[in-house]
Amino acid sequence: MEVIIYPTKEQANQAAADFVASAVVRNPRIVLGLATGGTPLGLYENLIEKYKKGEVSFAKASSFNLDEYYGLPADDKNSYAYYMRENLFDKIDIELENTHIPNGMAENPKIACEEYERAIKASGGVELQILGIGSDGHIGFNEPTSSLSSRTRMKTLTRETIEDNARFFDGNPEAVPTHCLTMGIGTIMESETVVLLAYGKSKADAVAGMIEGPITSMIPASILQMHRDVKVFLDEEAASKLKLADYYKWVYSRKPHPDW
Ligand code: GLP
Repeated sequence: MEVIIYPTKEQANQAAADFVASAVVRNPRIVLGLATGGTPLGLYENLIEKYKKGEVSFAKASSFNLDEYYGLPADDKNSYAYYMRENLFDKIDIELENTHIPNGMAENPKIACEEYERAIKASGGVELQILGIGSDGHIGFNEPTSSLSSRTRMKTLTRETIEDNARFFDGNPEAVPTHCLTMGIGTIMESETVVLLAYGKSKADAVAGMIEGPITSMIPASILQMHRDVKVFLDEEAASKLKLADYYKWVYSRKPHPDW
């Protein structure tokens, strides 16, 4: 893992956006894996700015989102399908038909999840996966004790995640769906490169467990220690519980070349 710590999330977002945009410029047909939640909003804002300035085009890119609430139609303002249109897709030149999000209204979620896996494979696989992390260490909606080799499937959210996400549902945990469809951890692990963002004190324990703890399904993100190409962008607060924070900063400040 490459651990990149910036004083603020704004600086980390800019650096992450530079990395993502240059990957898209190098490979216009890139298959992106996209995340939702509060964390990637700053990254998306930066990418929209770069698109508007003509620095990057997503016209040939395609995307697969990590997850969707089960029971929310795409036009529900809390669905991740709505979130993606509102915060990215409608503001860049990606073709909507090239974007994919698990179907939260699927009559048979099992079949829908199998089809999602097939669609990812048919695309050639996710080349650049953007991730956030839950305060309990989840990635996508793979909650603690999820199988570390799981595929896209239905999951039940933990109370902690429901409480965390209630802020998007007018603060009402009762309004948060209890189920979701999410890419599995095995699915996420097959992406070529992972960019994980984590900001704020509430993520510090999960981040420390992910980077420096043992690999365990109790902190699903810790499996990323086994991934060959992960960049973790943090602000100081999210990095505050890392034992080797100074070492990561030392390594990054002495990088011989940005691509190495
Ligand atoms: C959500 C999403 C994850 C996200 C995480 C953190 O529930 N399913 O993809 O990374 O939890 O959310 P946030 O960025 O809002 O803290």
